[in-house]
Amino acid sequence: MNNEQIMEIRKEFPFLDEEKMGRKIVYFDNGATSQKPKCVIDALSNYYSYQNANPHRGAHYLGMLATEMYEDARKKVKDFINASSVDEIVFVRNTTEALNLIAYSYALDKLKKGDEIVLSIYEHHSNLVTWQYVAQKTGAILKYVYLNEKHELDMESYKNILSEKTKLVALAGASNTVGGVIDVKEVTRLAHEVGAVVSIDAAQLSPHLRIDVKDWDVDFISFSGHKMYAPMGIGVMYCKYEILDSMVPFMYGGDMIEYVYEQTTTYAKPAAKFEAGTQNVGGAIALAAAIDFMERIGVDNIHKHELELTDYAYKKMSELDFVEIYSTPSYVRSPLIAFNIKGVHSHDVSTVLDTFDIAIRTGHHCAMPLHSHIHQNSTCRASFAVYNTFEEIDFFIEKLKEVRKVMGYGS
Ligand SMILES: Cc1ncc(COP(=O)(O)O)c(C=O)c1O
Repeated sequence: MNNEQIMEIRKEFPFLDEEKMGRKIVYFDNGATSQKPKCVIDALSNYYSYQNANPHRGAHYLGMLATEMYEDARKKVKDFINASSVDEIVFVRNTTEALNLIAYSYALDKLKKGDEIVLSIYEHHSNLVTWQYVAQKTGAILKYVYLNEKHELDMESYKNILSEKTKLVALAGASNTVGGVIDVKEVTRLAHEVGAVVSIDAAQLSPHLRIDVKDWDVDFISFSGHKMYAPMGIGVMYCKYEILDSMVPFMYGGDMIEYVYEQTTTYAKPAAKFEAGTQNVGGAIALAAAIDFMERIGVDNIHKHELELTDYAYKKMSELDFVEIYSTPSYVRSPLIAFNIKGVHSHDVSTVLDTFDIAIRTGHHCAMPLHSHIHQNSTCRASFAVYNTFEEIDFFIEKLKEVRKVMGYGS
């Protein structure tokens, strides 16, 4: 995409309206959550203004409209990730809830003592603590794959760790810190060879890369709307229908039942079986608007622009001898760079950058085992989205030099 196209896209984001914001923010914290375009904000506002009702319940105009819009949103997600059926799309709050759903409804029910769960050392806590809990409850064992020299998943170790004991492979499709993107199709093929199911944490994939669950043949995919231009509080858990149909419910209550008797209940078929209670209908509709936004620009165009930005930032940062980078140098990666400035605590880096209205993330990024592994307590992270520009990166690089000066290192 050329500069003109990016400038047009920027006009769609209210947070970039300098007059209304009273400041010019360089937002490089997209890995935590993206900003929202007006079409998404409007979709949410329209829903609550003119379309609000509880779906699957009222036989009145608004009730039917809300049902239709909610189910259309499910169809939109189905097409977005190339699932076979809308019944495979479960709306949840976020990636964390999706992973907990898989843990409670699939893993706790099906795993037993001695079974192995394969994770990577760079997993986000939501794809790690969850499996620790499953391991404690079932007696399953957690096996970790570590990093190669490029700070990506070491595929040789992955192959070696797989065995007939592996029952679940739970990996991030893209790391939120070291940035590597895995070959989901190959990872899945190898896991299926030993009879394991594969759950991909796609929180850092869905905003950037085209997901194709059919082509990848993956069993579970989880992602959050809020990292891909949609509101907070809406996410997706995809699961192959035959697996989903065999799973026990996650939560119990209204809308997930078929018949309820005094002592027993029969459950609805998926996806309803996993959507107990009133759902975030406005969120699902706004997620559909976010998907429309991404498809209008083109997911491949978004990905290309973000890769170009990341490559540019990586090269510029590599030229600074006081910067240590922990993210992969590979061209294809999550659009983010984790780094530290030698001799300066990451929180100080962030605080100084904030005085120039540059927003980055610091801390362990919910990946403490990874940080222990790379011997860092805390890192800085700059992460990019479709509305970011090369000029913003130049400004950021200039200000990184100032951070050093402010912290007393001279020029
Ligand atoms: C790789 C990864 N997995 C899971 C999550 C959790 O997402 P959420 O907080 O939306 O549930 C995140 C959030 O940063 C993430 O980066």
